[in-house]
Amino acid sequence: MTNWTEMDTYAKKWIKQAGDLIKKSFSGSLTIQTKSNANDLVTDIDKGTEQFFIKKIHEKYPDHRILGEEGYGDTLKDLKGIVWIIDPIDGTMNFIHQKRNFAISIGIYEDGVGKIGLIYDVVHDELYHAMKGEGAYLNNDKLPDLAPGQVSEAIIGINATWVTENKRIDPSLLAPLIKAARGTRSYGSAAIEMAYVASGRLDAYISLRLAPWDYGAGIILIEELGGVTSTLKGESISIESQTSVFVGKPGVHEEILQTYLKGGNW
Ligand code: IPD
Ligand code: CA
Ligand code: CA
Ligand code: CA
Repeated sequence: MTNWTEMDTYAKKWIKQAGDLIKKSFSGSLTIQTKSNANDLVTDIDKGTEQFFIKKIHEKYPDHRILGEEGYGDTLKDLKGIVWIIDPIDGTMNFIHQKRNFAISIGIYEDGVGKIGLIYDVVHDELYHAMKGEGAYLNNDKLPDLAPGQVSEAIIGINATWVTENKRIDPSLLAPLIKAARGTRSYGSAAIEMAYVASGRLDAYISLRLAPWDYGAGIILIEELGGVTSTLKGESISIESQTSVFVGKPGVHEEILQTYLKGGNW
């Protein structure tokens, strides 16, 4: 029998320990490298943090598998069994430039079903946490279910990339939504933006391209609170590949989908 409560306790302990190690790194110097392009950054701390989790998980749960952004985990062909989906630092650019507005994101899945989601905003010491069917929390405070809303009163998380020339969407398509919303924000960490949807600080969040480690924890949190998660086409999100991600509170999600996204070519 899987002891989810025990696993949850370890995951929380390890995420806090990893956060402390990241904070300690602020006093040292960073080794920064680029990945796919000049703005796609990774540091020795991203890599070290992922390795920290892999060591802890392997010691305690040798039969669990790990999908991590920096590639130190397993190469997975499927999501059978228990899989930890880890982004050691989500918002690396913020980590390097601002030393804030980044998070550790961990989603624990069983046979592809999200069971535990953890997003830790290290510098603000805010741990967002959900266990499927058991509610969602911000630190020790239980988060209320997301109440229905409407676009005219909504703050939407969206990166300005998607309203400038880009290869994924006609930049003019999202402009009417941005005009109709009360406001927009861009925090530079998909995990934090999804945690903000869960906690009501944002009413929706849209990205045209994310990887499983960016949204693996966030969709567990949002769904636990009655929020809606989908691709931009309104289809359900597959945790196995890169995808567009569109999450929001009820009402707002539906209104955006029906009024602004329907018929879009993405
Ligand atoms: C990035 C952040 C960013 C999002 C990018 C992600 P990383 O993750 O979540 O907000 O716009 O698509 O790649 O690389 O900092 O872990
Ligand atoms: Ca990255
Ligand atoms: Ca990420
Ligand atoms: Ca990352």
